Amino acid sequence: MTATKAPRPRILATRRMMPDVEQRLSQVFSATLNPEDLPMSRGEIISQAADHDGLLLTSFDKLGPDFIGELPASIRIIATHSVGHDHLNIPLARSRGIAVTNTPGVLTDATADIAMLLMLGAARGASWGDRMVRQDQWGETTLIAPMGYDVSGRSLGILGMGRIGKAVARRAIGFGMTLHYHSRNPVSVHDSCGARYHRRFEDMLPHCHFLSINCASSSETRGMVNAAALDRLPDGAIVVNAARGDIVDDDDLIAALKSGKLAAAGLDVFRNEPQIDPRYRQLENVFLLPHVGSATPATRSAMGHKCIDNLEAFFRGDRPGDLLTGE
Ligand code: DGY
Repeated sequence: MTATKAPRPRILATRRMMPDVEQRLSQVFSATLNPEDLPMSRGEIISQAADHDGLLLTSFDKLGPDFIGELPASIRIIATHSVGHDHLNIPLARSRGIAVTNTPGVLTDATADIAMLLMLGAARGASWGDRMVRQDQWGETTLIAPMGYDVSGRSLGILGMGRIGKAVARRAIGFGMTLHYHSRNPVSVHDSCGARYHRRFEDMLPHCHFLSINCASSSETRGMVNAAALDRLPDGAIVVNAARGDIVDDDDLIAALKSGKLAAAGLDVFRNEPQIDPRYRQLENVFLLPHVGSATPATRSAMGHKCIDNLEAFFRGDRPGDLLTGE
């Protein structure tokens, strides 16, 4: 008698991924890939999900509210190809018996590198400097212009001392920066690189020439970097955001950049990206990137493999390593 093999779980991947990730996904599962990498609408994802057991999606998919509420009953797990999971309603998923996993750890260094790039780029005028050279507007160099601001030796406040915040601290030590941080709980002295802990966000702000936003977007942190917070920074401070756009109040940040309260900002993430607030494009003192914190081949590959590890564990009947249980 020949034993019939159990059918392989069916996984719908919403975006094209690194080739080694797609190859493994197709070996392990019955995978529906998106070789043309055509963006799928929320409706398309929901209707295609009907023939699948799991979804492998990204934080760039336009899912909108109540996406999980509308998924067909066949879907048992969502693996998001991101560490951030603010695009997914985890309590709703739990109430529907859908497991959700993310990809922590493997994008820490790449994202911390981008936070440093934002600090350096914003402070030293990478945007306007690049534009000046490309547009052939590099006239005479004088001793007083063009000019940026120092990074080395200045003070840095880190909002959110998770994996990425700690990795930013490690890098900032190399720049001789004095470190401060705010997070829900203090971390060990070793993990903080000796940064001073502030239990209250507002108490940290007067100490920060630079403020680096590295916390997750949640009901607690949304809109946290607003006029009241920015007012408490020293005049001429620089704000960088490699986390999520909605942690910042755009009106307040733009007002502070226009008034000179802030010297500059470096932003890799925005509300409603890629349709960002157009006023940012008009500002000379911002350094803007298109959400590339994890965008290197090695990092994107590691993220994809982490998604597959989680899917494999789930369908084997084990608890996935990166199962989300919180907000
Ligand atoms: C993440 O993994 O959360 C990155 O910001 C990409 O979405």
